[in-house]
Amino acid sequence: MRILVTGGAGFIGSHTCVELLNAGHDIVVIDNLLNSHTESLNRVREITDVSFDFEHANLLDRDKLRIVFAEQNIDAVIHFAGLKAVAESVGKPLYYYHNNLASTIVLCEVMGEYGIKNLVFSSSATVYGQTNQVPIKEETNLVATNPYGRTKLMIEEILRDLYISDNEWSIALLRYFNPVGAHSSGLIGEDPNGIPNNLTPYITQVAVGKLPELKVFGNDYDTIDGTGVRDYIHVVDLAKGHLKALDKVMNNTGVEAYNLGTGKGYSVLEVLSAFERAIGKTIPYKIVDRRHGDVAVSYADPLKAKRELNWEAEKSLDDMCRDAWNWQKNNINGFKEEVIK
Ligand code: WQD
Repeated sequence: MRILVTGGAGFIGSHTCVELLNAGHDIVVIDNLLNSHTESLNRVREITDVSFDFEHANLLDRDKLRIVFAEQNIDAVIHFAGLKAVAESVGKPLYYYHNNLASTIVLCEVMGEYGIKNLVFSSSATVYGQTNQVPIKEETNLVATNPYGRTKLMIEEILRDLYISDNEWSIALLRYFNPVGAHSSGLIGEDPNGIPNNLTPYITQVAVGKLPELKVFGNDYDTIDGTGVRDYIHVVDLAKGHLKALDKVMNNTGVEAYNLGTGKGYSVLEVLSAFERAIGKTIPYKIVDRRHGDVAVSYADPLKAKRELNWEAEKSLDDMCRDAWNWQKNNINGFKEEVIK
């Protein structure tokens, strides 16, 4: 099949492109490169030895999007494109609402014009807000606590209303827990802009000397060692989950949400120890105050995805740390050109 991958140059998008190409699909990537680099797509071609079309465009450009659908015989869409920084969304809510909501609406309108009604949507565990119910099931109460999470929740609601208006649509809402790691080649990986917000790229940047020490946001939570517990999932497991969801939407109609997590939680200090094993040296850290908005514990109940998608995460925390480190040590500046002094 020919799959349109929006945001395909990004972290999860690029890893999903690898799995799509390896599975024999054709892909077309559309990305505005705001948070990504064309180099990641060059690396996807290098890993798979398969070429594919790339459209440097914003999904808000309806005319450009129409041309893509007119020229490319698209069968389905995997929609990653969107702004995703929680802290930034608090400071720029209208930017986030406009970009994430309007781009999805334009995408679905153009899909409808061309009769393409199979969609896999990149949602997030942030739609569960600060729930204390763990393991988190898809039926858990949805209450986002920041504009970024609210855009994901609102898009889920928009897509449910779209299906109610037209039962030909087939949509999978994939709620990611904490994606980490990298392709085993070390050619693609997580390449955050500026100082990382998330734990694992922060740790690997400390390990390569780009940052002095890890700040651990609180050690007074009611957890195994007082630090926050999360469900870390290898990005390759996550990518493979998208192919299973694609199979599902190609063979069914309706809207279904799926948790993509391992079902196991690890604390910050457990993750740090796993990285020290992978890297072979200690990582300096300091305990600081809790980060506003953090929950103590979050991990998935992934049984619905296992039951309905025949998917489950296979890689371990040590796999995640090994692969994340392999990417970082071979790409000190991520995809950015090496700075020639
Ligand atoms: C993980 C743990 C922190 C950084 C975020 C987004 C969510 C989703 C996944 C997109 C927590 C601790 C972190 C640091 C630390 N992204 N931490 N020092 O907050 O679970 O989820 O990423 O959908 O939307 O909110 O991930 O990696 O930021 O934090 O101690 O420098 O690491 O307190 O316990 P989070 P995270």
